[in-house]
Amino acid sequence: MATERTLSIIKPDATRRNLTGKINAKFEDAGLRIVAQKRLHLSTAQAGKFYEVHKDRPFYGELVDFMASEPVVVQVLEGENAIAKNREVMGATNPANADEGTIRKEFALSMGENSVHGSDAPETAAEEIAYFFSGLELVG
Ligand code: RTP
Ligand code: MG
Repeated sequence: MATERTLSIIKPDATRRNLTGKINAKFEDAGLRIVAQKRLHLSTAQAGKFYEVHKDRPFYGELVDFMASEPVVVQVLEGENAIAKNREVMGATNPANADEGTIRKEFALSMGENSVHGSDAPETAAEEIAYFFSGLELVG
């Protein structure tokens, strides 16, 4: 297994409820290291570009408006098998289907307001990290 990096976003429903620290503890307890992190209030255009892959899906407009509604925390997580491990810690997209102990099971409000984003493959992780961070900001 190789050391990987993945892009994580703590979404507005979670920052609003002051859950950044509790969510970060879940990552750290799972052995993921936060090697970059910043809080941003995305514009609609920035959120729309980030989720462009979903632009033809019926939920796209709602998703973009939600992601631009309040601040997010964007971060890079590093560790063995970090992409898959992060998605395990996050739990299923729909919190009703998420396993016990996962972030979405404990904190998500709904399928849309589901507290966290995580990259889904090495290529998307690299693109998503580069969207938010320069190399100088990644401190492993
Ligand atoms: P993410 O990209 O945010 O990490 O989530 P994911 O891979 O688990 O889910 P994905 O299929 O990529 O969907 C991206 C985000 O869109 C919202 N969504 N809403 N209302 C709906 O049917 C619906 N489906 C997806 C969620 O916020 C989901 O995380
Ligand atoms: Mg996704």
